[in-house]
Amino acid sequence: MKRIVNVVGARPNFMKIAPIQRVMRKFPNEIEPLLLHTGQHYDERMSKFFFEDLQLPQPDIYLGVGSGSHAEQTAKIMVDFEKVCLEHKPDMVLVVGDVNSTVACSLVASKLWIPVVHVEAGLRSFDRRMPEELNRLVTDTLSDHLFVTEKSGMENLAREGVDPAKVHFVGNVMIDSLAYFLEKAAQSPILQQLELTQRNYVLVTLHRPSNVDDPENFLKIISAFERIPKDTPIVFPIHPRTEKNIKAFGLEERVRALSNLKLLSPVGYLDFMQLTQNCKFVMTDSGGIQEETTYLGIPCITLRENTERPSTVEVGTNEIVGTDLDKILPLIDRLFAGQWKKGAIPEKWDGHAAERIVEVLRRV
Ligand code: UD1
Ligand code: UDP
Repeated sequence: MKRIVNVVGARPNFMKIAPIQRVMRKFPNEIEPLLLHTGQHYDERMSKFFFEDLQLPQPDIYLGVGSGSHAEQTAKIMVDFEKVCLEHKPDMVLVVGDVNSTVACSLVASKLWIPVVHVEAGLRSFDRRMPEELNRLVTDTLSDHLFVTEKSGMENLAREGVDPAKVHFVGNVMIDSLAYFLEKAAQSPILQQLELTQRNYVLVTLHRPSNVDDPENFLKIISAFERIPKDTPIVFPIHPRTEKNIKAFGLEERVRALSNLKLLSPVGYLDFMQLTQNCKFVMTDSGGIQEETTYLGIPCITLRENTERPSTVEVGTNEIVGTDLDKILPLIDRLFAGQWKKGAIPEKWDGHAAERIVEVLRRV
């Protein structure tokens, strides 16, 4: 019997762990999955809602670390997670993505000689000012089994000299969740609740420090929203970091002046998928939403200078524009003129990545 601790901490982790946890439970004589939540995200709307929507079991272990500086948060997780590992003696620790919980738990496990499994390995933005890039580099260096979502990840790990025997190209667990829950999401009443009609609104999310901790960039993005015709609602479920900064930078009035803006609290997974699959296009700086829009064939304007997910641009419906208005505004105009690339679904984004991962984990 293999005892595997599956780690979640922040919003983008829940939809990645859900399919893995579900497939692991199909092998009760071989795998004992323990779900551990660090508590990096803790608001109902950033955490609890996702357990309900994604049918995740309650965490077996909750660390409740909360917010803090990078060092504080990472250190708190490490101190608490070390105790968990010593008590529960897992055979493996499985981490997903690139958040602080990912790197903190990888470091603890590897120092205790517990094999580390990284799901979504190999992605690189080549921008070390992004905290996630540092988390990715460290986690991949420490990992014993690396599961990759797209071809660029295979190339990056090969270039960095990672032993190919440790690397598996399995596809994308985030898309597993999307494919699994798409029909259920279509029953969400959110469009009626917000009085939205199909393909007649723009969906926005923003939370990257490079955008929302920098008043100049934040203002540029708000002025891009002003280009969207007033009869087209802009639906903006707002991340807590972003909400705090609107207040801190005194941008409330500028935001309020956008008469077509619908500011919402963060919404649950099923509601968000329903909003995504029915919108005209998405403007975002999220990692995961670039992938979800590619899978759904929905145009995505990514308000970042780079992406660690190049297949969404090369194969999918994504365009990277940063905060340069000379790039953003013509794209908005093109979308309103009904022009966009068609896009395709990247290889192995077929809803079965978690099955491939668990198949490998049963063998190793
Ligand atoms: C984190 C991840 C980022 C990921 C994002 C997804 C890191 C370094 N960053 O960024 O990669 O894209 O989650 O959403 O791990 N806050 C609340 N309630 C919460 C959580 C956070 O109010 O439930 C507020 C706190 O003021 C906190 C701030 O948001 O200081 C930022 O939270 P944090 O987890 O540090 O980073 P995110 O910006 O959420
Ligand atoms: N998401 C959601 N509700 C929201 C915003 C995002 O359910 O209000 C989902 C989104 O569809 C995706 C995940 O959260 O599945 C991405 O998380 P986020 O953008 O916070 O993190 P990132 O992917 O940038 O690390």
